[in-house]
Parts: sequence; C-alpha cells; structure tokens
Amino acid sequence: MPPEPNAPLDSSVFASRRGEHEAKLFELLRIPSVSADSRHKPDIARAADWVEAQLKGMGLSVSRLSTPGNPIIYAESPPVPGAPIALVYGHYDVQPPDPLEEWITPAFEPTVRDGSVYARGATDDKGQMLTHVLSAATVLAERGKLPIQLKYVIEGEEEVGSEHLEAVVERERQRLACDVVVVSDSSQFAPGVPAVTYGLRGIAYYELLVEGPKQDLHSGTFGGGVTNPANTLAKLIAALTDADGRIQVDGFYDDVIPLSDAERAEFARLPFSQEGFQKQLGVAGVWGEAGYSTLERRWARPTCDVNGLWSGYQGEGAKTVLPARAGAKVSFRLVPNQDPKKVSAGLRTLLEPLVPPGIRLTIVDHHGAPGVVFPLESPYMAAAAAAIEHGFGTPPVFIREGGSIPIVNTFARLLNADVLLLGWGRDDDNTHSPNEKFNLDDFHRGITASAALWNTLSRQA
Ligand code: BES
Ligand code: MN
Ligand code: MN
Repeated sequence: MPPEPNAPLDSSVFASRRGEHEAKLFELLRIPSVSADSRHKPDIARAADWVEAQLKGMGLSVSRLSTPGNPIIYAESPPVPGAPIALVYGHYDVQPPDPLEEWITPAFEPTVRDGSVYARGATDDKGQMLTHVLSAATVLAERGKLPIQLKYVIEGEEEVGSEHLEAVVERERQRLACDVVVVSDSSQFAPGVPAVTYGLRGIAYYELLVEGPKQDLHSGTFGGGVTNPANTLAKLIAALTDADGRIQVDGFYDDVIPLSDAERAEFARLPFSQEGFQKQLGVAGVWGEAGYSTLERRWARPTCDVNGLWSGYQGEGAKTVLPARAGAKVSFRLVPNQDPKKVSAGLRTLLEPLVPPGIRLTIVDHHGAPGVVFPLESPYMAAAAAAIEHGFGTPPVFIREGGSIPIVNTFARLLNADVLLLGWGRDDDNTHSPNEKFNLDDFHRGITASAALWNTLSRQA
C-alpha cells in the first residue's frame, strides 16, 4: 500500500542525509556574517546569497525584499488548497565573536567536539533556521511536494534590532499572509526536555554618553575642581535601580501585567534545579526581584542591565587621569504590555535632572521591541507539540524565555497569525558568548520535527 501523502517520512531518510545536512550547516557557519560590524558587510552579502541559493535549489520561488539595510530573503512554495500557510522566520546574521581569545577553536571554523558543532551562529540562528529549510528540502526531494504552503523570511539584522524588517512586513502584508509563523531561535527547557515557548521578553536598549572637559586631565591638578564624567556615569547608573533592584524609571511598572497564580504554578512544576543553574553559570548565589523565583525573574519580570561600560584608562598599572568622557550601554528587558517608547521618555525624565554642572548627557535610543505571550489553546500549538514529540521522542513542556526576537510581535500584529517558537537549542549553547555550539543530534531532531510539523499543520485547516 502506498503511504498516505501526509504520512511522516521514514526516519531512515533523515538518517541517510545527516552528512549532507551537516555539510550545509558548516558551509553557512564559515561565513562571518556579523551584522553589528560594518567591516563584515561583504560577508552579510555572502550569507544572504548562500541562503538565496539554497532556497532556489529547492525549487522555491525566491526574491529579495528590498530595504536600506541587509538583504531579506523571501521564498515560497506553491499554495496547497485547504491547508494552512506557515511562514518560517529566521536570521542569517550573527553576533560579533569577541572576545576572540576565549574561543577554543576559531569562531568561523566550525569544529565538532562531543557531538556539538562549535561556531558563532551555530545555534543562533543558522543551525536552528536551517532545520526548517532542510526539512522542506528533504520532503521535496522525497515526495516532490509539501503538504502545506511554506513562506520563508530570512533576515540579516536580527542581532541589531531588525530595524528594517517591520516596514517590509507592513508593505508586503499580502505576500506574507499566513496562518502561523514558525520560529526556531530559542532553546529547549533542558537536554531531553524539548519545549514550546509561548512568551518572550521585549527590549529597550540605550547608550549613555557623558561628556565633561574637552580632553582628559591630570586628576591631581584638576580633580575636585571639575565634574568627573566617570563618577557621573556611575551615579546615573546607580540611579536606575534602588537597593532592592526596583527600576526607578518613571512609570516603569505601570503597564506590567502581574503573573497569574496559575502560570506561577506551571513554572514551579518545571524540572528546574537552582543548584544546577548556579553551577552552569559559575556563581555561588543568585539575586533578583524579591518574591519571585529564578524562572519568574528571567522569563516574566522586567529588568535593567548594563551591557557595556567604558571610561578612562584601561591599560596596565595606574594612570592618574580625569577622563573627558564616559559611556555605557544599558538595556531593559520588558514584559508584554510595556511600551519601549514609554521607557525612553521615562528614562530621560529620570536621568536629565541628575546631570551636574559641566557635564553633557546624551541618551542614544537603540532598538526597542515589545514582549509577547501567546495563548496555549491554539490548534497550531497542539500541532507543534505533536511534531516535537515525533522528532524528539518526548512531548514538549510549555515555557517562556527571557530573550527577545523583535519582529515576533510585528508578525503577530500585522499578519494576525499565531506564532510557534520552537527552540532546538540548549541553555548552555553559549549564545552571544565565546564557544557557541549546537548539538548535532538536536540539529537532526529539529529537522525531523520540522518535517513532521508540515504534516501536523496540514491537518489544521
Ligand atoms: N535568538 C535570540 C533571542 C532569544 C534568546 C530568544 C534566548 C529566546 C531565548 C536572538 O538572536 C537575540 O539574541 N535577540 C536579541 C535581541 C536584540 C538584539 C534586539 C536579544 O535578546 O538580546
Ligand atoms: Mn537569534
Ligand atoms: Mn542572538
């Protein structure tokens, strides 16, 4: 009897393509497509070309959605009447690999150790994004057609805030119309505990520039007679939170939706080990907002963190100097319903009155994006859970995550679609850190789960 058209492909099909799929991944990982650093523009272009060629090679209809920024690759397969449309989103850009000296093997020379491939972008997001490309490539190669229509939007500016994508989604609404958006750019709950993520935090990111005298000064000759920009910056940063860590930005908590008792109970049921967490991070204790668990603090409460801090002499030994300038990069993670624009206004209201004589403060607004939570009751969630169980051999748990994917909110809002965040990564994949990795079994399980998803979704008309 011939297999029914929507039956899953035999696992041997995926097993036999492991080498080919890994070779594709390694090819893409060798391209240093760092979006934050303009010296890598040519590599961004090469990565975009690579993605475009891959999708074209699958017989999809491919185009570039033009923006003033990095190329956005769009592809679609033919419509399938009666079946939903899924839009896959991912990013081919990566974070800078710094600090380079902490990499055991070079960031753009993918190397396999202990079953994982080490390279910048391995898990975030080249490896995860490719699972949804290679799953479709496999189904197309084996069956000649897909059980649903797929649309791909693969961009190159996620790591710098997806600045140009929103306007494109707005402009291309018709072309991007879909029922469900599929994103793999997050993590499983733990090894062997796959997850569907139903919430992400948002972000509001700033740079504070504090400028004083026209050049660095002798701190003995001039110290005490003029405001020191580094001292001022320290005070400004200190003013962002009180002793309990409560954020002092005007109105910051006004729109925060409290966690429900039911959701807190669900978080508490997850197999989370406080001890394991501390060990993983190399810390002897944890600290955070009073009255909340570590998972609640990381997933569902807003935060303020300094991401970078500079001023004065950084070299060896002691140099007596009163620096002319100081700067910091500061971000707030936001929970759903908080508006990044309100945070910007509140931040200025808080800091501007604190600027002492002889100092100029500039607040540069970098990227902002609201947080999201999605209802668990949708049939697409059930389809995702079934596909994950097929690929990973065990059903997923439902979690939120603390990271941000700026465009997710835009997709949900403008395309009026459900969003499935299916993270194949692991919490210890060292994303944005030295020695980023992606477990290769997870890569292949992700491909199998993704192929299964096209089937399970096809039954949700
Ligand atoms: N893949 C991450 C987002 C993420 C990380 C989601 C962990 C869930 C769990 C994404 O590439 C990322 O790093 N986003 C940035 C957003 C920023 C650059 C606007 C982030 O969260 O810092
Ligand atoms: Mn990512
Ligand atoms: Mn990232």
